[in-house]
Amino acid sequence: MESNAQYAEKDYWENRFEKETHYEWLAGFDSYKEVLLKYIRPEERILHIGCGSSDLSMRLFELGYKNITNVDYSERLIWSRREEFAEMEWICDDITSLSLIEDEKYDVVIEKATIEALLVKEKSAWSPSSSALSTLDSVWRSIDRVLNKDGLFLSISFTQPHFRIPALLRNPSWNIETDSFGESFHFFVYVCRKGENNEQMMERYSKMAPDWLRDATEE
Ligand SMILES: C[S@@+](CC[C@H](N)C(=O)[O-])C[C@H]1O[C@@H](n2cnc3c(N)ncnc32)[C@H](O)[C@@H]1O
Repeated sequence: MESNAQYAEKDYWENRFEKETHYEWLAGFDSYKEVLLKYIRPEERILHIGCGSSDLSMRLFELGYKNITNVDYSERLIWSRREEFAEMEWICDDITSLSLIEDEKYDVVIEKATIEALLVKEKSAWSPSSSALSTLDSVWRSIDRVLNKDGLFLSISFTQPHFRIPALLRNPSWNIETDSFGESFHFFVYVCRKGENNEQMMERYSKMAPDWLRDATEE
């Protein structure tokens, strides 16, 4: 039987991309297009992390967003995408380091459902493990590093704000707003601008979900 834990394994994705050419996690472009386009401009340099076989980047490209780089740690996926969509850049890298990307190179970083994939082994949504917190800290640090000083991180997610906002607040330089889309089921777009944490938000979420804000070295 399939278990969600496999979504945190690189080998699982390598095998999956042997056959899969298109799949959308959470939702397709048309359902979040209107919300997403409020936050990005065609001339901006966009980095799409954990791109998978989603058509998010291709759909943006068709709309005039020509400066797009895609990252995924599956070599198979990156090789085949690079051949098929040579008009965009494709980089095989791990989002916990983004080691192949130089500092402040992008105006916008976008992810959809990839942070969820990193957290699938968590047993409790209220009490993340130290290893989950340290993975998140590494991802947030990498994103922060590759964004320019006015950069924006957009995270498209099904995770409820009371869990995702404190996780995002671990990065001291993000000012976070929440947008949403979807009719019967709501999805979220977390809009993180470089700046500083909102004090009231920090106070609220450190009371509501304190474990998401604890030191990653504490058990
Ligand atoms: C749940 S899928 C989401 C794919 C796509 N964003 C979508 O919404 O359809 C997660 C993707 O993230 C990639 N991924 C997972 N962990 C990663 C990591 N540490 N570094 C780079 N890519 C990663 C996987 O290979 C997979 O393509």
